[in-house]
This record gives sequence, C-alpha cells and structure tokens, in this order.
Amino acid sequence: MTFTTDCQFLENELLDVVRLFKSRPEMLAHAFQYKEGVFCNSFSVDGKNFYYEDGGTVRDELEFKRLERRFAKLRLYQILSAEYGEQMPWGALTGIRPTKLAYMEKEQGKDFAELFQKMGVRAENIALVAQILAAQGGIYEKKDGNTDLFVSLPFCPTKCAYCSFITAPIDKTRHFLPAYLDCLDKELQAAGESVGNLRSVYIGGGTPFALDVPELKRVLQAIEPIYVRHGANVEYTVEAGRPDVFTEEKLSLLKDFGVTRICINPQSFSDETLQKIGRKHTEQDVYNAFAMSAKYGFDINVDLIAGLEGETPDVFVRSVQKAVQTGADNITVHCLSLKSGAKLKEETEYLENDFISDMVSASREILGSNGYEPYYMYRQKYQVGNNENVGWTKPNKACVYNIDIMEEIADNLAVGANAVSKRVFTDKGLITRLASQKDLPTYIAHVEETIEKRRKFFL
Ligand SMILES: C[S@@+](CC[C@H](N)C(=O)[O-])C[C@H]1O[C@@H](n2cnc3c(N)ncnc32)[C@H](O)[C@@H]1O
Ligand code: SF4
Repeated sequence: MTFTTDCQFLENELLDVVRLFKSRPEMLAHAFQYKEGVFCNSFSVDGKNFYYEDGGTVRDELEFKRLERRFAKLRLYQILSAEYGEQMPWGALTGIRPTKLAYMEKEQGKDFAELFQKMGVRAENIALVAQILAAQGGIYEKKDGNTDLFVSLPFCPTKCAYCSFITAPIDKTRHFLPAYLDCLDKELQAAGESVGNLRSVYIGGGTPFALDVPELKRVLQAIEPIYVRHGANVEYTVEAGRPDVFTEEKLSLLKDFGVTRICINPQSFSDETLQKIGRKHTEQDVYNAFAMSAKYGFDINVDLIAGLEGETPDVFVRSVQKAVQTGADNITVHCLSLKSGAKLKEETEYLENDFISDMVSASREILGSNGYEPYYMYRQKYQVGNNENVGWTKPNKACVYNIDIMEEIADNLAVGANAVSKRVFTDKGLITRLASQKDLPTYIAHVEETIEKRRKFFL
C-alpha cells in the first residue's frame, strides 16, 4: 500500500486504523488543515476523494493534538468501514485503552459514552466499559507513590506458539539460573528503598513454577524483606502458570511466604488444542493443579484464549464452562493476537476467525450469568476480530495488580530481565518507563548498571 500524510505524527495511528481491516486500499493519501476552529481532513482512497470538517473546543496544545488525532482516525475508519462493509467492535478506537479514555472523559466531567458512540464503539462494549469502571471502584486509586513490585522469571517448560515473550524453554536456559537468581537478589536488596506505598507484589513470567523449590525459595526470600517492611497483607501473586509444573511442595512454599494469589493458566480445556499450541499439558493437569491448590486457600486467576487454532465456538464455550466449574476467582478471556517474535506470527499475516465475536459474546454471557463481573480490560494490535481481553472477577476478588497495570495508575518497580519499570506522575499526566535488558546474558552482565539506573529513576 502506498500511504502519505502531511501529518507525520499521525502516520502510525492512521496505519493502525487501516490494519483493523482485512481489505486494504492500494493508495491512501491524507492531508490535514486547521481553519478557524475547524479540523479539516482530506483523504484519497484508491482514487476516491473525501473531505470532512469537524469543530472542537481547543484549550491547549495537548487538546489540539488529541482532537486532530481523533477526527482523522474517525473519518478514515468511517471511509474504510463503508468501503469494505465492515464495522469493528471498538469502532475507530485504537492505540488507547478504552477504560483509560473513559476515565479521561470522566475526569473532564463528560459522559464517556457520548465519545464512544461517536467513535463507532458497539453499544455492548460501551456497557462493558461502564461495568468495568464500576467494578474498579474502591481499588482504582490515583496517588503518587503507589507502587507495585514485579519480579520477572522468564523461564518456561516449553514455548507456546502464540507467545512473544523473551522466555525460552528452561532446558536451554537453566545454566543461567544461578547467576540470574544472584542478580534478582541484588536488585531486590537495592529496590527496598525505592518502594513507596506498596499495593501488590507479582512474580510473573514466564512460568515461575518452572523453577525448582530451592530456586523458587531464593526468589521468595529475596522479596520477603520488602514485603514485610512495606506491605504485609498486600496482595501477593505468583503467576505459577502452567498446570503441569505444579507440586505440593511449591504451593506450600508459597503459603509459607505469604503469597495470597496464584495463576493456573489452562488457555484451553481441549487436549487437542493444547498439543497444537505447544503447551504440553492436558485438561486433567488443570484439574490436578486446582485439587492440589485447594487446601492453601489462594485466590486463583485463570487465563483462557479465544480464537486458538482450529477451535470451534463449542470447544471454546466448553473451556469457559470448565473454567467456571473450577471455581476460579478471576477468569481472563483473551482473544488471540499476533505478536512479533511468536511462532504464530511467522506463519500468519492476519488473524481471521468468523466465530470470534460469537465466542466473545458467549464468554460474556456465561461469566456474567455465573456471578463474575468484568473488572479490567485491554486491547492489543492484530487481535483476532479486533476484540479485547477482559478479566472477570467474583465479587470482591479483583486482582489489584491487574487493575494498576492496565490503568497505569501506580508506579511499577520491575526487576529481572525484560522488566519495565514505570513511574506515574498523576498531576502532570506523565508516565516514564525504564526497561532492563531482554536477554539473560546481557541482563546478567549489566545488572549493576540496571540497579543504579533504577535507583535514579525512582528518586
Ligand atoms: C503474561 S502472559 C503469561 C502467562 C503464563 N506464562 C502462561 O502462559 O501460563 C498472560 C496471558 O496472556 C495471554 N496471551 C499470551 N500471549 C497471547 C497471544 N498472543 N494472544 C492472546 N493472548 C495471549 C495468555 O492467556 C497468558 O496466560
Ligand atoms: S505463554 Fe506463558 S508459558 Fe507459554 S511460552 Fe509464553 S510465558 Fe511461557
């Protein structure tokens, strides 16, 4: 496709709108002008010309850019939607989390639903966002200094076909583990002074349970002083992960160290699918992991993915029903997305699934009617059907970490390889990020620098 715009900063955003559609123009040109309070967008799409004028109140430069972006994207979306006869579940919304946008509108005293309607968001999705905002009440808190601690363990039993993380099968990386754990020790010792008001601790991956008990114990011991000093009784989650690596010993260890929540991630309850996506565990492993965990009283998060290779709506619906039957406190329904670095991305260019919207609707119906409420959501690029990921919770069981991370309302002090620390300056509306090295040997070699950089970052 040939694409030109005289608005350089909009180039990627307009391309994101184009990428929502399977059919794409061969030639697209865009030009923007601002004339006496009116935003003027001209488009030429495969030789057809379009011109729009939109008025908007502009208070400052930030507001101007926001409206410039909004109108250009909306108008392009409307053109392509009419040309190709397709409407997207989230209309012209790309690049911003719907809930964040809704909060921004609310903070300005506006009804977010009006903007969402204008942007072509489906009515049921507007209602979903309203439900999520309501469910976050009492947890959503914008206060400088609020901090979540993230510890990255990028080790897995095998690599899943759709996964883009830097994580590798632990057989290939185990030799890095002793040095990696030394680095985590150093990072966590130094991190204590940077922790503000601790809201949650999250050990994620990867698959933390890919580690053996003594290895896992070292990580928990390194976290303990921070947890005890800053936040006894705060939420403490271990993304234990793959059901095939659960053992009583590991669970009991977590309990000893005060962990309150774990993840048991089936992704699907179909053995055939699990084989295809390279998970190497079975439906039965999921039930075993639940049975093993029962006596410890952890809150349990479950992840599912809609749109996995070869799955019909029946297979997916069964997975949602089975997930509900496990009694999980949280169930997150993801829609498959193409991510750079994933095996799936090498094999596919555009994810299609005629049933995906039906699957999403069915999951909403099943979870809603079984006492779960939606409490966080996010969207990703190249997500099948341009849908979304939604986390559902039983009443009063929402995961603080998930809300903080998705709404970007708290600092994230992240240690380990491929960890991205974040500072949130609520009054300035500013978020800054600091990433550590992605691959294990580079991370290990530069850990002292990383510690120093992070210390300054959190000053
Ligand atoms: C941070 S990931 C890691 C979870 C954990 N390692 C596991 O797989 O059990 C969290 C969740 O994102 C979802 N996910 C990862 N890659 C995805 C993709 N390409 N498309 C859709 N969902 C994805 C999966 O449901 C996964 O459990
Ligand atoms: S999806 Fe999870 S278990 Fe699979 S490779 Fe990625 S991080 Fe590991």
